[in-house]
Amino acid sequence: MDARSLKIAAAKVALDQVENGMRLGIGSGSTAEEFVQLLGEKVAEGFEVQGVPTSERTARLCLELGVPLFSLDELPQLDLTIDGADEVDPKLNLIKGGGGAHLREKIVAAASDRMIVIADESKLVDELGAFPLPIEVMPFGMTSTLIHIEALASGLGLAGDIVQRQRQRDERSEAYVTDGGHFILDASFGRIPDAEALANGLAAIPGVVEHGLFLNMATAAIIASPAGVRMLN
Ligand code: 5RP
Repeated sequence: MDARSLKIAAAKVALDQVENGMRLGIGSGSTAEEFVQLLGEKVAEGFEVQGVPTSERTARLCLELGVPLFSLDELPQLDLTIDGADEVDPKLNLIKGGGGAHLREKIVAAASDRMIVIADESKLVDELGAFPLPIEVMPFGMTSTLIHIEALASGLGLAGDIVQRQRQRDERSEAYVTDGGHFILDASFGRIPDAEALANGLAAIPGVVEHGLFLNMATAAIIASPAGVRMLN
């Protein structure tokens, strides 16, 4: 099975969790987009859902497919969010933000009764940290914010490069800018033994807008492998 087939397999099982009339947080990334495709087909058959997208990109795809969208202010409490992840540990703690959407993803997940993660088995890890942790920061004073993050990391015994995310545009590299107009620092710690201490420390740094550690937020994970799809909860 190729990677895309695994994503579709996880997305199909997630769709079974969506009930008619639900207020649904809709995640971002390639796995979440497979889910949106399937949801769009179901909506075209008359299934009713009220969606809140977690990124401009997801919003565009939903609109193309006819999935009804609302802002989070219109629907401040959601029944369920379906989203992808970059890493999932055995306690369902996550690293997210590989696609740069973790700020809205976290706000939407926090507004949801349940958050179900969809992923292929390559995202399962024993300990978070091999995937560089995305940290969304204010452009104002980013270097000061970086110094605070480095000091925090050093105090927690974490080592590794922290680099500003770039994107390619017309063969030139430029700063990646999130939907919220912020920059992203990707922190390659390798392993994060105390994710809670890191999350709390990052949240206390003024220039940090949001980090990609999603601790105690996911209620289940649907993991696809060539052997089949299984639900962790
Ligand atoms: C975006 C995310 C994505 O859900 C995460 O990066 C996984 O993406 P993909 O399904 O493409 O591997 O957190 O901010």
